[in-house]
Amino acid sequence: MAESMKGLKRTARCAEINLGMEGQEVTVMGWVQKSRNKGGIIFVDVRDRSGLVQVIFDESVTPKEVFDKAYTLRSEFVIAVTGKVNKRAGAVNPNLKTGELEINADALRILSESETPPFPIEEGIKTDEQIRLKNRTLDLRRPELQRTLFMRSRISNITRQFLESEGFLEIETPILTKSTPEGARDYLVPSRVHNGSFYALPQSPQLFKQLLMCAGYDRYFQIARCFRDEDLRADRQPEFTQIDMELSFVDEDDVIEVNERLLQKLFKEVLDIDVTLPIERITWQEAMDRFGSDKPDMRFDMELKNITEIVKDCDFKVFTGAIEAGGSVRAINVKGQGDMPRKKIDALVEEAKEIGAKGLAYIQLKSDGTIKSSFAKFLNEELQGKIIEAVSGQTGDLLLFAADKDKIVWDVLGTLRLKLAKQLEMIDEDVFRFVWITEFPLLEWSDEQGRYLAMHHPFTMPMEEDLPLLDTEPGKVRAKAYDIVLNGNEIGGGSVRIHQNDIQERMFKELGFTEERAWENFGFLLNSFKYGVPPHAGLAYGLDRLVMLMSKSESIRDTIAFPKVKDASCMLTKAPDIVEEEQLMELGIAVLNNESEES
Ligand code: AMO
Ligand code: AMP
Repeated sequence: MAESMKGLKRTARCAEINLGMEGQEVTVMGWVQKSRNKGGIIFVDVRDRSGLVQVIFDESVTPKEVFDKAYTLRSEFVIAVTGKVNKRAGAVNPNLKTGELEINADALRILSESETPPFPIEEGIKTDEQIRLKNRTLDLRRPELQRTLFMRSRISNITRQFLESEGFLEIETPILTKSTPEGARDYLVPSRVHNGSFYALPQSPQLFKQLLMCAGYDRYFQIARCFRDEDLRADRQPEFTQIDMELSFVDEDDVIEVNERLLQKLFKEVLDIDVTLPIERITWQEAMDRFGSDKPDMRFDMELKNITEIVKDCDFKVFTGAIEAGGSVRAINVKGQGDMPRKKIDALVEEAKEIGAKGLAYIQLKSDGTIKSSFAKFLNEELQGKIIEAVSGQTGDLLLFAADKDKIVWDVLGTLRLKLAKQLEMIDEDVFRFVWITEFPLLEWSDEQGRYLAMHHPFTMPMEEDLPLLDTEPGKVRAKAYDIVLNGNEIGGGSVRIHQNDIQERMFKELGFTEERAWENFGFLLNSFKYGVPPHAGLAYGLDRLVMLMSKSESIRDTIAFPKVKDASCMLTKAPDIVEEEQLMELGIAVLNNESEES
């Protein structure tokens, strides 16, 4: 039944047909979107990746065998139609690019038939995502996914062109590589030749791009697949793509400058949006103090205010206790929410507790002029007035307070700020607000491991003026690291790298590496550094995240043709899957906990 091409040629994609072709014979090929039979006339909407065109089979004109065949068409059949382009005899469809024309068919081939699809191939369907992912080929036929993947392709291409024109070389780095500590968890690949040994899939091309700088390649880029065995969140995938780059003989400003021009070009060409340069830069400290987050959404205010100094001698033990323990008291002003019902406020307190707070204090400046506060009894009127003034409280406002270690206070208020802004629709969704976050802490204390961890990675250069602190107060050392943040999402990050042996050694020492272990893990890099290493710096974007924001997709999964779900499995292929006993034998592997046998 299914016919073949037999030399038939498509003359244009469906939505490329236009009235300039009126009277011409054309051949389109695609899927049947919809077929309606209206008393002797069959209307068929044919769809390909460009869009739709209406084809007419008219019993009184169309050859009988063609008409009879058209009669059998159903949704998602793949067909080839040849016919004449004409102005629509019936009503024009203003929603369709080809809405003023139709093709009057005189030949039809059914290239393949289709079962009834499990969901309609349409924009904005409410079908469960699991079903969509199991039938991904059908899902990918839908307009919004097509638009996003088209956009993704454009973003990659413009990036390639731009970086090439700026003197960057595109160089591939290995996918089968060496497991190194200090990152997320690795995906491992067992070796057949060396039983008991494993490759790791790269978490990023970081070390290889630094080696390329040592090798003199000067400016490198790659659209690189990266793998991280992390707990997944809405903006994370176990395999994702970076636009990765590295530059020699540069400092922080040079990396930022070329990347600002890349972002400007991408937004202009893809979205016709002007990004004004330079993009604002704020330090990590300022980001935390003002927004409680190192990826602040700056499309709205509701900034945090530090009231530690004002309340440090008050009688409210919750506040003074936190301050005495080295913490702080901070507040946000939720404008116009002073009359929020008690139930809703209680829900906020519960949420604060879930984030890690011991509680959340509040002052309601009710619209009737009265004040209700969860800690009024501990304050005299003067102090209460000072607090309200410090957060610019006005009649009708709701003030929320957290007291704890800085880290918790920032996290709680930063999260509530974002959540409330979304709930209260304070965010202008049409705005793209970029910001660079600079001067990140170099190290981050881990209670779990009882040592410092590199906040970015162990090869990030400390700020020169902070070098003396490296041995005395390592927690205070700032790094030459920078993130680019868009609307509250970290879309990229990078740093200037250490290219001096002595600094690298001190860094390893702070991270608790013996010299031996450093060489064991990173010897290939350290060895290259012995033979002339240029100062270098770089950056990587999360391409999937960038596409998600530019296409306003709801999830990172909608930007990837074949994504994975929360438990890192693929709904389509059912990967990961068990393998033959024989394969395991070759690899010298015995499975201890066989999940699939257990279940
Ligand atoms: P980093 O680890 O910050 O830096 O990664 C760079 C960017 O990659 C994106 N990203 C992710 N996207 C989707 N899913 C994930 N699981 C995921 N993890 C990270 C983020 C992030 O900003 N080698 C360094 C870069 C450098 O220093 O040059 C690196 O990998 O958008
Ligand atoms: P209590 O004296 O424990 O009843 O607390 C009085 C108010 O302070 C309540 O609204 C608590 O939610 C709040 N509170 C308790 N701990 C904290 C904290 N660490 N930061 C801010 N508010 C808190």
